[in-house]
Amino acid sequence: AKDKELIRGSWESLGKNKVPHGVIMFSRLFELDPALLSLFRYSTNCDTTQDCVSSPEFLEHVTKVMLVIDAAVSHLDDLPSLEDFLLNLGRKHQAVGVSTQSFAVVGEALLYMLQRSLGQAYTAPLRQAWLSMYGVVVAAMSRGWAE
Ligand code: HEM
Repeated sequence: AKDKELIRGSWESLGKNKVPHGVIMFSRLFELDPALLSLFRYSTNCDTTQDCVSSPEFLEHVTKVMLVIDAAVSHLDDLPSLEDFLLNLGRKHQAVGVSTQSFAVVGEALLYMLQRSLGQAYTAPLRQAWLSMYGVVVAAMSRGWAE
């Protein structure tokens, strides 16, 4: 119950500004694993992080990711209801060449964004709460990926 309060409380303001926070997260992701940039080539240039984070398709993906997190936060009492959606999402990422290990790197980037955005409010219990929620999301995506 404490975990859910921590997550909901911290997402309240972040969730209202999805794109800028998502951009912080993905910029960090590309620092941690620059090879992931190549999976975002779409039709436009995405040679450098800067090119990439300013392309409309990329910003759309950032929004999609943030909406999945938003859905998880609003279904904290019933995460299994997202199972089918997440299985399918994992399958789609398998198809576009994303490895399941990369989902864990996204998790690190998510924590980095939370730390930067929340400042003092980023505490060990909050970090743990987010890690476990993200872990449930990634576990379902990974099952879909492997099916
Ligand atoms: C779709 C890449 C992580 C949510 C896609 C697509 C690509 C992609 C290339 C297809 C094109 C597009 O729709 O933009 C990646 C990479 C990731 C990553 C490289 C990290 C290593 C994630 C994560 C989430 C997510 C962690 C959510 C928690 C989505 C959604 C779609 C999508 C909702 C749209 C699926 C649909 O068409 O129904 N991703 N993705 N992605 N991604 Fe990701």
